[in-house]
Amino acid sequence: MKKYISNVISPKVSIAPMVDVTDRHFRYFLRILTKRPLLYTEMISCQGIINGNKNKLLDFNKVEKPLSLQIAGSTPEEIYEAVKIADNWDYDELNLNAGCPSDRVSGNFMGATLMAYPKLVKEMVDAMRSATKKPITIKHRIGIDGKNILPPSFHRTLLDSYQDMYDFISIVENSEIDRFIIHARIAILDGLSPKKNREIPPLRYEDVYRLKKEFPYLNMEINGGIKTLEEINHHLKFVNSVMIGRAAYNNSFMLREIDSLYNKDYINNISRKDVIEEFIPYIENLESLGENSFYAIKHIIGLFEGKPGSKRWKQILGTPASKNIKASALLKIALRELPKEVLYNL
Ligand SMILES: Cc1cc2nc3c(=O)[nH]c(=O)nc-3n(C[C@H](O)[C@H](O)[C@H](O)COP(=O)(O)O)c2cc1C
Repeated sequence: MKKYISNVISPKVSIAPMVDVTDRHFRYFLRILTKRPLLYTEMISCQGIINGNKNKLLDFNKVEKPLSLQIAGSTPEEIYEAVKIADNWDYDELNLNAGCPSDRVSGNFMGATLMAYPKLVKEMVDAMRSATKKPITIKHRIGIDGKNILPPSFHRTLLDSYQDMYDFISIVENSEIDRFIIHARIAILDGLSPKKNREIPPLRYEDVYRLKKEFPYLNMEINGGIKTLEEINHHLKFVNSVMIGRAAYNNSFMLREIDSLYNKDYINNISRKDVIEEFIPYIENLESLGENSFYAIKHIIGLFEGKPGSKRWKQILGTPASKNIKASALLKIALRELPKEVLYNL
């Protein structure tokens, strides 16, 4: 079979899909900090897209672009239908979730469970391909422990070796996948919580590098535990791109440095004060529309991470929603109360 060589340029850095975090408000906030990385939506299920409120689920602000829509599904038919619908929105990429370990997802034959069914994944990607001309990517783990989830007909339920991942890629690469995003840990599907699944299985970066060496023509992005620009630069020596998840949330101000990866002469001098001031009109607009703006500020807690004032910032943002104070007013309080040197300083 002829190899598919993608002509889609990798984003260098992307900000990971995170349910309950990477909603449209957080994405707007991220774009104030950094213009270049690819952003992801939260994972949305095929059934949600097919049966749910499509505008509510799929609408986004064009400043969030480039933006990838992450979809979870389990059959070629439903993913075809979901992608056909989503193709009417201006997403830059459609991403298949083959890495989520949560019971709700993997227990329903979606997410990481799919790694045990590479031929099905191939069919799903083929279905996505026939529904859109946009780039298609897949986010998966380096393997799974499917002890309690895979049927007895599986002679092995621990698919965690390098060879297992190699075999998975060897099959799914026969469909037109523009980028493989590999979370460098296995997913343990026997009831371990998603949070523990991001902490307990060890990171195996070397396996991802090796995979890239063995499939040099595939675009490969590494994910898992990456926190700093130095670490990003290190990984970029071995793979095409890097995905950052929790660091974008816990220490969002560090994202400011990322644009320089795309243009080394570009220095992003935005200060925390600038970021808050740019976010206030967005929050005020939500308030004028009667939306819950307290919800929109809860994800920006990492802006002062490691700096004096971080505790006070979290206290201010944590003020319970009330009729007597608006979220925009809390941001203005922060501008008055937080140490000037941290607000202005780089
Ligand atoms: C709160 C939260 C929600 C997540 N939701 C998703 C999701 O919807 N889809 C997905 O593929 N991964 C999801 N993940 C996993 C991340 O995308 C990423 O793979 C993981 O956090 C490892 O990267 P990190 O160490 O840089 O955080 C989530 C992670 C967190 C912390």
